[in-house]
Amino acid sequence: TDYPRFGWRGVMLDVSRHFFSKEDVKRYIDRMAQYKYNVFHWHLTDDEGWRIEIKSLPKLTEIGACRVPRYGKWGNHEAPKDGETATDCGYYTQADIKEIVAYAAERYIQILPEIDVPGHSTAAIAAYPELSCTKDSTIKVSPGHKFAEWYGNGQFKMLVDNSMNPASEEVYSFLDKVFTEVAALFPFDYIHAGGDECYHGYWENDEGCKSLMQKEGLKNTHELQSHFTKRVEKIIKSKGKKLIGWDEILEGGLAPDAAVMSWRGLEGGIEAAKLGHYVVMSPNDYVYVDLLQGDPLVEPDQTSYKKVRLKKTYEFEPMPDSIDPKYILGGQANLWSERVPTIRQAEYMSFPRAWATADIYWSPRGSKNWDAFTQRMERHFERADFGGYNYARSAYDAIVTATMKDGKLLANVATEINGLDIFYTLDESLPDTFTPRYTQPVEIPEGSVTLKVATFRDGKPVGKMIALPREELLRRVAR
Ligand code: ACM
Repeated sequence: TDYPRFGWRGVMLDVSRHFFSKEDVKRYIDRMAQYKYNVFHWHLTDDEGWRIEIKSLPKLTEIGACRVPRYGKWGNHEAPKDGETATDCGYYTQADIKEIVAYAAERYIQILPEIDVPGHSTAAIAAYPELSCTKDSTIKVSPGHKFAEWYGNGQFKMLVDNSMNPASEEVYSFLDKVFTEVAALFPFDYIHAGGDECYHGYWENDEGCKSLMQKEGLKNTHELQSHFTKRVEKIIKSKGKKLIGWDEILEGGLAPDAAVMSWRGLEGGIEAAKLGHYVVMSPNDYVYVDLLQGDPLVEPDQTSYKKVRLKKTYEFEPMPDSIDPKYILGGQANLWSERVPTIRQAEYMSFPRAWATADIYWSPRGSKNWDAFTQRMERHFERADFGGYNYARSAYDAIVTATMKDGKLLANVATEINGLDIFYTLDESLPDTFTPRYTQPVEIPEGSVTLKVATFRDGKPVGKMIALPREELLRRVAR
């Protein structure tokens, strides 16, 4: 047989938004090895922290690995105050990195390091302000405060200049130093150079960028970013490595041999494959494991912008029809860590969704069977309990939507896992197998009524109870 179906079976861990210790990272690699993953994508730099020691650029970690401490909901944190000391620090020394690379290799896992440029670069710019167009020396590593406005449809504006200046030779010599050291640390063929969500507003107003665009005949700032990526590709190639980047690197023209990691759906990957470039599929609507996997009322993270239930992840198919399959290297689940403060939470978000993706990579196409998968998953819950690592049981929870019919509010309840019984109450008591069984949409009377719903199997509770006040159900009608 020809299994696994995919040679690139990846998981990405973001260690910038929250730092994970060397021991935590090894623990995460153990989990990956258990499910026969072979690529650990290590997102090492972002606006909220630069996590890899670069000996020739010591400020990257002296300054870029520290931020002011903040607690509570990510994105609502207070911006750094004048004179406030950045005490929340974390980075990997080069000795740590070598140790982790060796640890992973012993488990047949290669490590893909990511240096995310030219956007997402606040931490590097805080250390070396000359890297940005505005050279703003007051910029601080972000503690998870609001520094961008998001308009939907991927449109946004950065309120601080967090992108590197593509017209600056200093930027390219900086990146040459960074990639020299990165290439020496990681044996994997590829280096990930980011490229996602780069705001061009500061470039548009920069004289250096304007004259570079004129000189090179670049028609817009997408072409300017493409010019940047092509230079970065040359640097990375000069270290004997290949560049992979997020699908934004397609805009303005792909660098000659760049591979593409497709995150905004499969489309970027399809486009790149048609152009004869290698692709890793990691579409956010299937495999972004930072997103909610159940009802926000009973999940730890209620602020996520989107939901990807396990069943949706299980529907992921990395190989689109109608393109040459040789270009699809494989697939990858991505764990962004804005709302993942601990390794236990990282496990909770990753599994079972990253068991579903492992199952996909190792199973013949066309052999999916949801019921069989969920049965096997339950045995792995037992293994995880025995091994003392975390996972989410959210797939047992009820799925509650609401509709309005003839002026009446109706609650509709379903389950992801088949064969569960749903019981509910409307009288403030707790649902059990003696309260009403759900068989059809439930009319919610007027008044301060709360629907409480829970799932059971063989008379025993399996899902978390979800309590939905009438106002919450009304909000769900609107959606
Ligand atoms: C991404 O999620 N910004 C690649």
